[in-house]
Amino acid sequence: MRQFHALKVSRLQDETADSRRITFDIPAALRETFTFLPGQHLPIQVEIDGKRVRRTYSICSAPGVAPLEIGVRIQPGGQFSGFAAEVLREGDTLEVMPPFGQFHATLDARQEKTYLAFAAGSGITPILSIVRATLEQEAKSRFVLFYGNRRQRTTMFIDDLYALKNRFAERLQLYFVFSREEQEFPIFHGRLDADKVRELYRTFCVGLQPDEAFVCGPDTMIETVKAALEEAGMPGDAVHIERYGAPRKSVNKPAPQPAADDGLANITVIMDGHRKSFDMPHAGDSIVDAAAQHGIELPFSCKGGVCATCRTKVAAGEVRMDTNYGLEPWEVDKGFVLACQSHPISDSVTLDYDEA
Ligand code: FES
Repeated sequence: MRQFHALKVSRLQDETADSRRITFDIPAALRETFTFLPGQHLPIQVEIDGKRVRRTYSICSAPGVAPLEIGVRIQPGGQFSGFAAEVLREGDTLEVMPPFGQFHATLDARQEKTYLAFAAGSGITPILSIVRATLEQEAKSRFVLFYGNRRQRTTMFIDDLYALKNRFAERLQLYFVFSREEQEFPIFHGRLDADKVRELYRTFCVGLQPDEAFVCGPDTMIETVKAALEEAGMPGDAVHIERYGAPRKSVNKPAPQPAADDGLANITVIMDGHRKSFDMPHAGDSIVDAAAQHGIELPFSCKGGVCATCRTKVAAGEVRMDTNYGLEPWEVDKGFVLACQSHPISDSVTLDYDEA
């Protein structure tokens, strides 16, 4: 069940001057619950000044070989990241939901694939987990990683990446690109915009025929890299994306609007085999907020349509979403929705949280 568990912070390390690595201690009884796929994230909840704050952070460690670790970039004025920088101490506990998310590698030791990754800033966090797990578990696969940052001193996980490069010298190509520091070779200076991605691809990926690509960064960088890779011949569904930060534009087609008459809709949620029902208006609050008003806590984190912690499947009826930045087109086609963005269209809706 997607509920919060109290996990002890066993280690806190400064990763750079403006980022921290948080390591959790997982009690034996929760090991299975906190099993994860490389690339997944953890919703975290904490009370700050009497207010409940939820954030979602990607896991940077690789499954099975290291403790559960996340990377947190300290944002000026950031509620959780400020707390993580100033208040959190080793030995404290945080409320953590089990790992979640569709941005992950599906690994198979028999595979021999070529993977690409583009990461910007703290977007390296899930990519580090994916690269490490892939190189460890698929002995014949190779990875090409392009990592953009402003400066070397604020580059997260740089030591981990160099260590991986040393371990897997033959199968990992690693390229850093810095936007605020001159480089000996101009190709490594600049931002990961369309021209830079084309130049990097032309220079370092010739003849590689990549099978899959993983892209994580801010919204504009994601769209730019995805378009450039498709232009280079990669099928759209081979390019996996994970955004961070607030999206700038909707990736949704216009949603159908609710019926003009606004009677109540009956919502049934199925979770862990149990059914609960409540009534709510067709317009106004989202299903997550309406459920909370009836004492039913549904999973959520960002409430912005990005993290997909609230993902559920419409088993019956119809809903409309305000925005969707967290679901892939195939998930929408299969009936998955973001409950934090959803409002009922039909008079009766059933949401199944047990459907993966
Ligand atoms: S809670 Fe993050 S997308 Fe709904």
